[in-house]
Amino acid sequence: MHRRQKQAEQARPRGLLKPWGRLPGRLQLHQVALPTLPVPPLQQTLDRYLLALEPIVSREELSHTQQLVAEFRRPGGVGERLQKGLERRAKKTENWLSDWWLKTAYLEYRLPVVVHSSPGVVLPKQDFLDRQGQLRFAAKLIEGILDFKSMIDNETLPVEYMGGKPLCMNQYYQILSSCRIPGPKRDSIVNYAQGKRQSRHIAVVHNFQFFELDVYNSDGSPLSTEQLFIQLEKIWNTSLQTNKEPIGILTTNHRNSWAKAYNNLLKDRTNKESVRAIESSICTVCLDAPMPRVSHDVYSSRVAAQMLHGGGSHLNSGNRWFDKTLQFIVAEDGSCGLVYEHAPSEGPPIVALLDHVVEFTKKPEQERSALSPLPMPRKLRFNITPEIKKDIEQAKQNLNILVEDLDVKVMVFHHFGKAFPKSEKISPDAFIQLALQLAYYRMYGHSCATYESASLRRFRLGRTDTIRSASAASLRFVQAMDSPGQPNSGSSLCPQEQEKTELLRRAAQAHREYTDMAIQGNAIDRHLLGLKLQAIEDLVSMPELFMDTAYAVAMHFNLSTSQVPARTDCVMCFGPVVPDGYGVCYNPMEHHINFAISAFNSCADTNAARMAHYLEQALLDMRALLQATPRSKL
Ligand code: COA
Repeated sequence: MHRRQKQAEQARPRGLLKPWGRLPGRLQLHQVALPTLPVPPLQQTLDRYLLALEPIVSREELSHTQQLVAEFRRPGGVGERLQKGLERRAKKTENWLSDWWLKTAYLEYRLPVVVHSSPGVVLPKQDFLDRQGQLRFAAKLIEGILDFKSMIDNETLPVEYMGGKPLCMNQYYQILSSCRIPGPKRDSIVNYAQGKRQSRHIAVVHNFQFFELDVYNSDGSPLSTEQLFIQLEKIWNTSLQTNKEPIGILTTNHRNSWAKAYNNLLKDRTNKESVRAIESSICTVCLDAPMPRVSHDVYSSRVAAQMLHGGGSHLNSGNRWFDKTLQFIVAEDGSCGLVYEHAPSEGPPIVALLDHVVEFTKKPEQERSALSPLPMPRKLRFNITPEIKKDIEQAKQNLNILVEDLDVKVMVFHHFGKAFPKSEKISPDAFIQLALQLAYYRMYGHSCATYESASLRRFRLGRTDTIRSASAASLRFVQAMDSPGQPNSGSSLCPQEQEKTELLRRAAQAHREYTDMAIQGNAIDRHLLGLKLQAIEDLVSMPELFMDTAYAVAMHFNLSTSQVPARTDCVMCFGPVVPDGYGVCYNPMEHHINFAISAFNSCADTNAARMAHYLEQALLDMRALLQATPRSKL
């Protein structure tokens, strides 16, 4: 083993995601049978990299990069050497990428998890308007979470499939009873899902005050809705004071600052015990104060912001522990949803859990026999020293700047859903991605590096790769779309329209092909990252290919997008990944599409509502184009 790698393994933070080998029996068999992630052929990735640059860099930049690629791919050159290193790594590990990805994408990422990393989910507004309704709904929701948890514990969670292939189920085993822990250079994850220290409680937070709520009876059965309701009422009644220090706001800070504050906080024994109780809980349930009233038009966008950051230190941001993997949020005014810490999982398993929980809340309550009295949930106390108070004030200030900076717009596109592109024999996802390309091109006059998440869960411990939605084919389509039509040459159809339709269909097909390539483990982004990390690990000087302007452009994702489909009429939302970019998440339903678009106010060039407007127009124009032209021969 290489010396550096050995050192790295010894220094492995406690609680990096558990290897699948420790999962329960039946599931373990399923996991072992999954294929391992391949290392794509070097020449294929380099060719595809150059193709991906075509729509986003100038001719001169492209020609410079072609030379760098030629040097990198030379027989016996650095590319081959790094590729061999990757292939060796792939032989030795369950997944050559997963640990690297977890560290680089999440645990070593130093910006606050709030907005920059943790996605939120906006659920449909519930029809309660008071505390009783809020607590009853929260009780039902907790029961639903425990019902889902029992499927995980009993291994009765059905294996998921994509395109007929079984998927890795590991992420489901990482999302409950886990928490991120800040570290000075790298964070870690702890998980209390199995073994002797298995979690039996959830953390409930109200008016910034945390409680440990045991959710199982002494015979091991989960508490009923009625029991949970009574316990939540007790919590509510003992946390009426609204002047408490928002200790949870510490988790919103830059990771280095939070790591320092964390060490300081845990010097006190009471604080340490309280923090451990939050970290080891199954999940957090945040009983929020109502949001300030807003008009119907902006309501969902405001809820999205509430889910992402809590609205600021004067509202609900201190009513969270943002390092907790799953936090369900139920406000007194009926707004609800969740926020999740991204490191252990992608959106789809989270939304699958949410779908189950939402369905569960609709079931009638079951009659239970007489209730035995339950002990008062334990209040988690904190001793606030002047130093901790200073850290809280600093975190408040930083968070409030971030809250002011986030621009988020939820748009329900109600003209059509995925049924329309399907009726045109076009992939709905490709159709939506093309509309995003068209909207961006119309706003800025050029294409940009675009990221769409593609699932790698066909492979053991697979996470994601990138679908690069800006392609030569998409650029041809968006350029043609607004070019003036040719004079009609006598036929009933303008030839230009026919051509635009052909270009649209070709671009959609190219997108679908990239998607297939990505989910089969043959996309370029994670492979390029792997080669770069291999160079760092091997202590070779960084190849020029990765120091190139074109590489920086390719990695500057002005559009960061993701499809997260759900049965529930909800939408996931996340922040942009660059200061001058957009975050776009969507849930295509059969007859409408839910979008959440984010940007930063500090960037004069971006505007979420404007992007939503252009996107809506692009979707409508693309439908009009297809409806105006007969089906192509493609
Ligand atoms: N004609 C008719 N129907 C078509 C079609 C065509 N040419 N192409 C696709 N469809 C249908 C599909 O069969 C599917 O039908 P269903 O609704 O009955 O299931 C539907 O349209 C959707 O397919 P499509 O739009 O192509 O998308 P997809 O479901 O294959 O998803 C990705 C594409 C990239 C989103 C998916 O592969 C993926 O990787 N998802 C994970 C993303 C992720 O992890 N995000 C989270 C990040 S936090």
